[in-house]
Amino acid sequence: MQYQISNQPVAGVQASCIVVTLDQSGKLSDAANAIDQASGGFIQARIDARDIEGKTAQTLLLPAVAGIGAERVLLVGTGKETLKSADAVKILNAIASATSGYSGNVALALAHLATDTLPAAWWAEQIAQAYGNALYKYTETKGKKDDAAEKRQPDSLTWLGDDVSAAFSKGEAIALGVAYAKELGNLPPNICTPSYLAAEAVKLGAAGALDVTILDEEELEKLGAGAFVSVAKGSSEPGKMIVMKYQGAADKNAAPHMILGKGITFDTGGISLKPGLNMDEMKYDMCGAASVLGTMKALLELKPAINVIGMITSAENMPAGHASKPGDVVTTLSGKTVEILNTDAEGRLVLCDAMTYGINNFKPASLVDIATLTGACMAALGRVNSGLFTTDETLAGELQNAAAYSGDKVWRLPLEDDYQELLDSNFADMANIGGPLAGATTAACFLSRFTEGTPWAHLDIAGTAWNSGGKAKGSTGRPVPLLVNYLLAK
Ligand code: BES
Ligand code: MN
Ligand code: ZN
Repeated sequence: MQYQISNQPVAGVQASCIVVTLDQSGKLSDAANAIDQASGGFIQARIDARDIEGKTAQTLLLPAVAGIGAERVLLVGTGKETLKSADAVKILNAIASATSGYSGNVALALAHLATDTLPAAWWAEQIAQAYGNALYKYTETKGKKDDAAEKRQPDSLTWLGDDVSAAFSKGEAIALGVAYAKELGNLPPNICTPSYLAAEAVKLGAAGALDVTILDEEELEKLGAGAFVSVAKGSSEPGKMIVMKYQGAADKNAAPHMILGKGITFDTGGISLKPGLNMDEMKYDMCGAASVLGTMKALLELKPAINVIGMITSAENMPAGHASKPGDVVTTLSGKTVEILNTDAEGRLVLCDAMTYGINNFKPASLVDIATLTGACMAALGRVNSGLFTTDETLAGELQNAAAYSGDKVWRLPLEDDYQELLDSNFADMANIGGPLAGATTAACFLSRFTEGTPWAHLDIAGTAWNSGGKAKGSTGRPVPLLVNYLLAK
């Protein structure tokens, strides 16, 4: 799909569809008015007949409007006068789902919606992402392939207004990263294994300026990554740590920013086995890893002048004769010992060794880990916000700004020393669980013990990386938009 800019008068625009707006008082935008005039009041007649009122994201498709260049007009309601970003996204999603199946050119007369808080560039970025979302469809393991109808999409999108092409490129890159993360999250766990994720990273590296290194389970065992190995050893699928080095800064030695994703390609719980209901969904326990791959993919498109390390810590959490048991004590790469009281708290075990490895080897300027870490975070924040844990106010601000701008929201949850004692163990330096209270915070507390003074933040995406049930069931691609915006602002 091509993105174009045009300043042509709307009535003359050649398009398979032109999108114009009205507000909830039924008032047409200037562009909608121009089309109404050119068509002898065709649009106003529909409003007078109350075919559409103008509520947020309400749409009305008018085919074959005489007197104008476009073959169809899509009227879209913009609701209240001052648009909030969430409503704006709803409007764009409605436009994208109504028009993404058309061929030819779709023209968007939306420039008048730009404000100081939601400037034209924001709209352009979000438009590209809305079309990306509308056009994504999982087909990989569905019987019949290359169904041409499923691949239908417009040849081009035209923004009627001032130049927003850089914003389109950014939005497109994010959309590409989101689609990639969705695909990885949706793939079944017998395909998307730690080795598969490693192969994907190698593929990304071969296609772009990315230096990829894979550490296998044996190497990690030799290094002393006992926490990682304690999880990986329960499965016959070998665990992997994946390091992707992107060096865009003029100074290749400038300290990199690190993002680290949890890549448990299936979480049975291990010996502390999970209940069977909906266990299939635990294939999405690698969505932190998917978001890192998606973000690296977007960075390869955008080529920002920063150094970034994308790291993935990947294993399958299985019950087995050689799986770890509750009560086992393991020594982490940092030297600290952990009593595994629950083998289902495996995410923090694979993450802590990756944090130590990443910090020791790359001395990052900052570290953000992304993990489907706790059911408790999902219970607290639902599917709206990812949990944000950090004691670093600068990082908190950067992530909150990126979240607010992208609409990929976060909510800060506590990470105070008062919670640390919940991890006390009589038999090791710490336990891997903190009991029934404050589960999302105690998980973050566990990770906080492996930061070695590096500015660090933890994103718990258990609620936001996946939609459960029914038609919406599947991966969301979050938090790729957040991560890309966060890194681009560095
Ligand atoms: N991957 C899960 C967390 C999770 C639960 C993600 C539901 C998405 C949806 C994680 O490994 C886990 O099992 N956490 C346990 C921790 C507990 C044993 C302290 C949990 O949240 O129940
Ligand atoms: Mn688990
Ligand atoms: Zn897990």
